[in-house]
Amino acid sequence: MTEQNPSSENSAAETHPRSIRSFVLRQGHMTAAQQRAIDTLWPDFGVDYQAAPLDLNACFGRDSDKVLEIGFGMGVATVEIAKRLPQKDFLAIDVHGPGVGNLLKLMEEENVNNIRVMRHDAVEVVENMLADGSLGGIHIFFPDPWHKKRHNKRRLVQAPFIAKLLPKLKTGGYIHLATDWEEYAVQMLDVLRGFEQLQNTAADYAPTPAYRPETKFEARGKRLGHGVWDVVFVKK
Ligand SMILES: C[S@@+](CC[C@H](N)C(=O)[O-])C[C@H]1O[C@@H](n2cnc3c(N)ncnc32)[C@H](O)[C@@H]1O
Repeated sequence: MTEQNPSSENSAAETHPRSIRSFVLRQGHMTAAQQRAIDTLWPDFGVDYQAAPLDLNACFGRDSDKVLEIGFGMGVATVEIAKRLPQKDFLAIDVHGPGVGNLLKLMEEENVNNIRVMRHDAVEVVENMLADGSLGGIHIFFPDPWHKKRHNKRRLVQAPFIAKLLPKLKTGGYIHLATDWEEYAVQMLDVLRGFEQLQNTAADYAPTPAYRPETKFEARGKRLGHGVWDVVFVKK
């Protein structure tokens, strides 16, 4: 929680080049209200990237169950979930500046304090900032489907990344994925089934847990006639 301005393009995407990323950095339009939310709330709720372990209990000021959310978009579902589960704390990561501003703005409007926000590549945060066994849950909702065959390699939910993610989860912790892209849903199920330390909570796709509200992407998918699939596995 230092002075770095998250609205600048000072992103690790440039400083730590990696060949294949799960996102494309878009400039995006930042509204005045989103920018104001960053200017005023980042010192309290923003977490700057550092290539060193983060003390999550210190970060939230309490010893609680921690949930990591990767790719929160505009943060609408994030805030709703944090309200529904006030006893848990949420580390929410995205690379998209206006979304960061929007999430902070919603937190203020809804008086939600159990979220900390990062603007960075979540892959690097997982690699460098999270201690093993530090998470009670992981949420990845409607990750970019990268539906063209030649772009499939950019998908976040692939075995090498999940292999990096799983040690961060404590025993009994869960990973919850959701998508409206059927072929990605199949991939999600396949990838998670490939880890013997994970147990599916359902025969295949899970009923949507009560804490997850419908997101903008989900509503759009449903309008287009897509289904929505939730995948929830627990660490043995
Ligand atoms: C399709 S949007 C879904 C947003 C939100 N979960 C929802 O359901 O509305 C995917 C989001 O993931 C973010 N994202 C993709 N790869 C990421 C990464 N490696 N680290 C952080 N955020 C990422 C994108 O910037 C984008 O906001």
